[in-house]
Amino acid sequence: MSNASQASWKPTRVTKKLGIELPIVQGPLGGFSTQRLTAAVSNYGGLGSFGALNLRPEAIRDVIGEIRSLTQKTFAINLWISMEDEGAFTSTEQDFERSLSRLAPHIRAFGGTLPTYSPYQPIRFQDQVRVLIDARVPAFSFIYGIPPAEFLDECRRVGIALLGTATTVDEARALADAGVDIVVASGFEAGGHRGSFLRPAEESLMGTMSLVPQVVDAVDLPVIAAGGIADARGAVAAFALGAEAVQMGTFFLATEESGASELHRRAIAGGHRAVTGLTRGFTGRLARAIKNQLMDEMNAPDAVILPYPLQRTIVGSLSRAALQAGQEEYVQIWCGQSGSLLRSTSAAPALDSLVKEISGVADRIAGWRQTSETS
Ligand SMILES: Cc1cc2nc3c(=O)[nH]c(=O)nc-3n(C[C@H](O)[C@H](O)[C@H](O)COP(=O)(O)O)c2cc1C
Repeated sequence: MSNASQASWKPTRVTKKLGIELPIVQGPLGGFSTQRLTAAVSNYGGLGSFGALNLRPEAIRDVIGEIRSLTQKTFAINLWISMEDEGAFTSTEQDFERSLSRLAPHIRAFGGTLPTYSPYQPIRFQDQVRVLIDARVPAFSFIYGIPPAEFLDECRRVGIALLGTATTVDEARALADAGVDIVVASGFEAGGHRGSFLRPAEESLMGTMSLVPQVVDAVDLPVIAAGGIADARGAVAAFALGAEAVQMGTFFLATEESGASELHRRAIAGGHRAVTGLTRGFTGRLARAIKNQLMDEMNAPDAVILPYPLQRTIVGSLSRAALQAGQEEYVQIWCGQSGSLLRSTSAAPALDSLVKEISGVADRIAGWRQTSETS
């Protein structure tokens, strides 16, 4: 199945620890993850990941079973350590109505159904992680914090590789102190949420080019670079910075196997050079997506934004209605800063081109040195 054998890659500490052939990770894509995409990337020789943050434990168990029916290779399940922001439990129906009142006219105009208030009912991280441990998943990646030590110990005991995500050097150090196996250093070019956990996300905005080498220097662990890597040039740059693998999200979101709608995939990879921005307005937590009317309205100074994840419910209703109505300006179009480099295709051909081009870029750079030495 794997095409990875066509290229000869020396193992890195990341590929060795995970037992994969290529230093390429399909980043978890939250609700846009699919079993098919995870398995396709793992079968190819990389690490496929599935974002299970929104799933109840029974559903996570099913997903793991389905991925296992599609691949024998290593894959990762990803969870969010902190599942809600302060205020999610105390936010009232009046708060909900205040936030909804701004967006309700749009939802109605697009023929959608208005969401109704119900008190916040969390899915417990402890219950989700229990499924991962019982199923002995090959790898557990996480964002927004560090799991309690007892869970990390249990994972280690049953041989689950631990991948923690850092958006700053201090977060990388904290993950290393907790004993994770691999640090994912995620620069602010990345699509989706900023998983900062030591300081507010707005105070943790480091670009991949700055973050990766500083994390490599700060921790004695293998580092995976994430954020803005969408082609061979980005991958080679990340390797030059000291990363031992690259994690790409937007690249895989644009593939046919992802859970993204056709409108979403076209907006990322349609060649019209979309501009992205950061907003808290889509979910209550800072995240990157394509700038459109929805983002402008949610970033307006008078926007009413509920604590995560309550805001997600309201804006999600609008986004779904807009998607149905084909109104791109009001759809949440998650995307990293390098989305415009992509063309939509399926995962295996996208990986074929990437792997081939990485060698080309690396050879080109090696050629420079010879030229300057001989000139
Ligand atoms: C739609 C979307 C959803 C994401 N969901 C998660 C998630 O649930 N957990 C996580 O750790 N990272 C998540 N990410 C981050 C990706 O796994 C990856 O690190 C990031 O996209 C890399 O940057 P890039 O978008 O520039 O490739 C998400 C990214 C996107 C675009």
